[in-house]
Amino acid sequence: MRKKIGFIGAGNMGTAIMKGILKNGLASKDQVIASCHTEETKNRIASELGIEMTLDNCEAANADIVFFAVKPNVLPDVAAEVKHVLTEDQLIISIAAGFDLKKLHFILGGDLHIIRSMPNTPAMVGEAMSALCSDEKSTDDDRKTAIDLFNSFGKAEFVPESLMDAVTGVSGSSPAFIYMVIEAMADAAVAEGMPRKQAYIFAAQSVLGSAKMVLDTGRHPGELKDAVTSPSGTTIEGVAALERDGLRAAMIDAVRTAAQKSRDLSK
Ligand SMILES: NC(=O)c1ccc[n+]([C@@H]2O[C@H](COP(=O)([O-])OP(=O)(O)OC[C@H]3O[C@@H](n4cnc5c(N)ncnc54)[C@H](OP(=O)(O)O)[C@@H]3O)[C@@H](O)[C@H]2O)c1
Repeated sequence: MRKKIGFIGAGNMGTAIMKGILKNGLASKDQVIASCHTEETKNRIASELGIEMTLDNCEAANADIVFFAVKPNVLPDVAAEVKHVLTEDQLIISIAAGFDLKKLHFILGGDLHIIRSMPNTPAMVGEAMSALCSDEKSTDDDRKTAIDLFNSFGKAEFVPESLMDAVTGVSGSSPAFIYMVIEAMADAAVAEGMPRKQAYIFAAQSVLGSAKMVLDTGRHPGELKDAVTSPSGTTIEGVAALERDGLRAAMIDAVRTAAQKSRDLSK
């Protein structure tokens, strides 16, 4: 990809995305420029990633692909600042929560090619799940470029924009739910006598391995669960306890409540 990529915002998410792109060779250091608000971030990221950093957002917006990676509360001001630099020849990608394509066109300009995305925080370890949706102006080439960029720090899929609230629940918020599951599993192991530090390794690696089984084998999660539960065994006793205590209902409630909150916030 011989394209210049600009980032407006170089915080947790912006940096995670840049790292994925650089690590996977989608762009070289001299093809990436990022802007931020403070001198401290400018110097830190320049030395950490070896890319050009600036405090001038228009400089970062002058690229083939422009990421908007600032917090939603500053996005309208930043958009007003760089709007005059943006053109139809660029691909604009927003990662800001709560800004749908209509709002993005309103603050940035109607004729632009814009892709709205929602990555999640595992982007920081190269394992994000990102949802993307594109506007009517975006081309197949834009979509291919975006998918390649997002696949560099995890997995990415296009979804209709109407599914972005579901995405908020199932991947945006769900890392918090899974951290709670890991913490609870580790608590139980500690109660059984395992040292705390070791308990987190056992619990987290088991979650990681189980997720990988679902993704790599393509088998139904229920089928994989059945394969672990031998007759009169230990696992089926645990499964029965989870059913009694309502694990499935609790998780369905958590994902749907987060999706509903996302719908409420966008009204
Ligand atoms: N964190 C998540 O879970 C998550 C997940 C998906 C999507 N998102 C979205 O990702 C976006 C960024 O979140 P984040 O967690 O990366 O935020 P963050 O760590 O706070 O980073 C924000 C960045 O924006 C810069 N900034 C602030 N004001 C600016 C301005 N006026 N002009 C240029 N840059 C400015 C900051 O610069 P300084 O460092 O110099 O202050 C910082 O580099 C948000 O819109 C959020 O909705 C976040």
